[in-house]
Amino acid sequence: MSEYITHEHDVLIIGAGGAGLRAAIEASAAGVKVAVISKSLLGKAHTVMAEGGVAAAMGNVDDRDSWRVHFADTMRGGQYLNNWRMAELHAKEAPARVRELEAWGALFDRTSDGRILQRNFGGHRYPRLAHVGDRTGLEMIRTLQDHGIHLGLDVFMEHTVVTLLKDGGRIAGAFGYDRERGRFHLFRAKAVVLATGGIGRAYKITSNSWEYTGDGHALAYDAGAALMDMEFVQFHPTGMIWPPSVRGILVTEGVRGEGGVLRNRNGERFMFKDIPPLYTTQTADKEEEGWRYTQGDKDARRPPELLTRDHVARCIRREVREGRGSPHGGVFLDIAWIKERIPNAAEHIKKKLPSMYHQFKQLADIDITQEPMEVGPTTHYMMGGIKVDGDSQMSNVPGLFAAGECAAGLHGANRLGGNSLSDLLVFGKRAGEYAAAYAKDNPLGAVKTDELGSSEKSALQPFERNGSDNPYAVQHALQDLMQELVGIVRQEQEMLQALERIRELKAASERVSVPGNREYNSGWHTALDLHSLLTVSEIVTRAALERKESRGAHFRDDFPAKDEKYGGFNLVARKGPGGEMQLTREAIPPMREDLQQIIQEMK
Ligand code: FUM
Repeated sequence: MSEYITHEHDVLIIGAGGAGLRAAIEASAAGVKVAVISKSLLGKAHTVMAEGGVAAAMGNVDDRDSWRVHFADTMRGGQYLNNWRMAELHAKEAPARVRELEAWGALFDRTSDGRILQRNFGGHRYPRLAHVGDRTGLEMIRTLQDHGIHLGLDVFMEHTVVTLLKDGGRIAGAFGYDRERGRFHLFRAKAVVLATGGIGRAYKITSNSWEYTGDGHALAYDAGAALMDMEFVQFHPTGMIWPPSVRGILVTEGVRGEGGVLRNRNGERFMFKDIPPLYTTQTADKEEEGWRYTQGDKDARRPPELLTRDHVARCIRREVREGRGSPHGGVFLDIAWIKERIPNAAEHIKKKLPSMYHQFKQLADIDITQEPMEVGPTTHYMMGGIKVDGDSQMSNVPGLFAAGECAAGLHGANRLGGNSLSDLLVFGKRAGEYAAAYAKDNPLGAVKTDELGSSEKSALQPFERNGSDNPYAVQHALQDLMQELVGIVRQEQEMLQALERIRELKAASERVSVPGNREYNSGWHTALDLHSLLTVSEIVTRAALERKESRGAHFRDDFPAKDEKYGGFNLVARKGPGGEMQLTREAIPPMREDLQQIIQEMK
């Protein structure tokens, strides 16, 4: 084995987005030695793609809001597959986490009487999203970094972990490489927190950047942790679709929260065709009702553009498939129309949606204050992930914790917009706190040198092969097939085909070769990412095949209705003793009576 560099910490955090940083702050505050590993540069995290706001029932705009309503909304959004304990903790603790962020320097938009302003978002009964224009995630990352940097964290940027290490059953650290020089690093730690985000790069059209290859999901699975709800992948209804080079970049739901409407090529607000009862109104002028709602009128009904994301994404897909789409295969999202309602609309739009204004102006030469945007669904978020204890965020592997997008439970079958930012604050804090406590109670685990040797050997194999399989070609083939065969609308035959193709691509991934040396070799890095991408894609597909119903973000053309038979359990994937994937149904524990009562009242 070649030389490797050894680091020793109490708590190792893998991932430097909002969840990782919040966990690092908490662990560090508990007095333990903390390291944070970032696959790319600090600050470049998918957290910034949650633009429109952080959900917290502060009741600043509508005093009818409370943690109870937020809890009920989150459970309804998740179609009751959620870990209800996590949904309870999340709803109760989110307001304090937002206020804490403000105390650390985050500059939120304000109400006229100086409180944190909150806006409407899909599936939230009241205006609940505390926001900073349309740059909320960015402001959160900035604040967490500023705060964390003073706590003496060790930060390892541009490092990728290839395997987790265990001492017997419990975690002992991680092994990986740095992108700059391709040197190997051993990170010994008493506790490890995974905060690696999602799996968006398994799909062709995604809001996720190159880092999001399901690393945490795959590392945990390989280490014996259970993964849950992997069939539930969220397709955000509005991503950019034109020009092709920017396809998938997020167009915040905040546009619809500020009054933006969706129209097809005939100018119809097609979302009115498909409104569930809660949204129907007796008022003759439905558009007027929707507008009143976005302006904070307590008695108005929600506009149908703010239905849950799965629903809106499917309606857009239908319009396009039935020939009513926009020229480049999406639909129109129009915020410019508000000039009919308010004076100085252009200034208002630029103030509330500054990033969207610049994004469209610079990337598509569209002035959103004057003309509609073209948008279509984009793979945005993974509800499924590492199964954790709701209070501590520890997985079934002792000492291995997970928080944020790579952990499962809070969102069930579908996540409400804005609940990702509150998720990572609430459960990032909890993961950091409990990981620090675990580290105080446990010594460093032993590391087996032969394990490191075989990890290194397998990581270097692409340099030693002479075959013609190319890592980028394998990745692109996988993205195409996941998009086409395991996307927004699924059916059995296509998913069986997908499994067969994944099997072939796995074989191809074991043949890929890369030229050059270990310094900044992105072909090599892509070759190493394939294992995670293929692992998570297979689990998503197998779970989606097993759930023979439609629920939340998982829609089956061959089983288009929700089936109560599938309502009482989560699908859980584990790696079997021979490396085979085992998928089991695990019953959801009965909900506490006081929480059941809240759900009943809110219905
Ligand atoms: O549309 C958005 O701003 C995204 C928010 C989220 O995913 O939570």
